[in-house]
Amino acid sequence: MIDLHAHLLPEMDDGPEYLDAALAMARRAVEDGTRTVVCTPHRSARHRIEPARVHEAVAALQRALDEAGVRLRVLPGLEIAISELPGMDDEELRLATLGGGGRWLLVEMPFRGWPIELPDVLRDLEMRGFGTVIAHPERAASVQTAPDRLRDLVGRGALLQLTAGSLAGELGPAPLRAGLALARAGLAHLIASDMHGVSWRPPGLSDGVAATAAALGVRAADLSWAVREGPALIVAGERAEPPRPKIVSRTPRPDAPPAAPAPRRAPRRSPRAPR
Ligand SMILES: [Fe+2]
Repeated sequence: MIDLHAHLLPEMDDGPEYLDAALAMARRAVEDGTRTVVCTPHRSARHRIEPARVHEAVAALQRALDEAGVRLRVLPGLEIAISELPGMDDEELRLATLGGGGRWLLVEMPFRGWPIELPDVLRDLEMRGFGTVIAHPERAASVQTAPDRLRDLVGRGALLQLTAGSLAGELGPAPLRAGLALARAGLAHLIASDMHGVSWRPPGLSDGVAATAAALGVRAADLSWAVREGPALIVAGERAEPPRPKIVSRTPRPDAPPAAPAPRRAPRRSPRAPR
């Protein structure tokens, strides 16, 4: 899997303080099946990280991973607050693209308030040749109360990145509810960890993928685009169009023929009974 959103660079933002902690996070990610991590430190008023510094830090972390025998590829990126975008020129934005692919930018969804300027921001970025991945909308209060308001942004070409921990229920009931509502609406385009530490906001995508698949009634493999094919296109700077979701409907269509009566048999435990 490819993890598109991670605070893995040591001594950079609110991610790991030391290299040892970053290596421990990287090992955990590899154990969970991640082979590539895009390092996306914050670009915000609090952490004004320069994209060129991220490229240097990623190269240093890759050397440390190789020396430690951790089989993980790290790539550069940035998680950009909306308020920082107007102050960044095209060259800075190009350096800040996910994976250095030159096309996709990770834009942070604010936790409070609906950003009314976001449609204009997306249009401006598109005119400058960039696509937008919106980071963790399910954690924003404005989306939790009305997930459907994201449809306009998706219609303008944005991709949504949901956080694995939200979908696994590790970040509380509101992100879980909003995340699964987006997934049922076919809007769980990408799933990433947003890892910050070994135990707090930890690495790992598979629990979030498994929980989403269970909620949709599909196999985890059916969500592969969100953690493999989609992220691969994004880090390569390619166009990325999510597949239509395969969702098992629990309510029959009104024009569907009546179901045959089920054969009588002894009751058994549902394989999807809550654990
Ligand atoms: Fe983040």
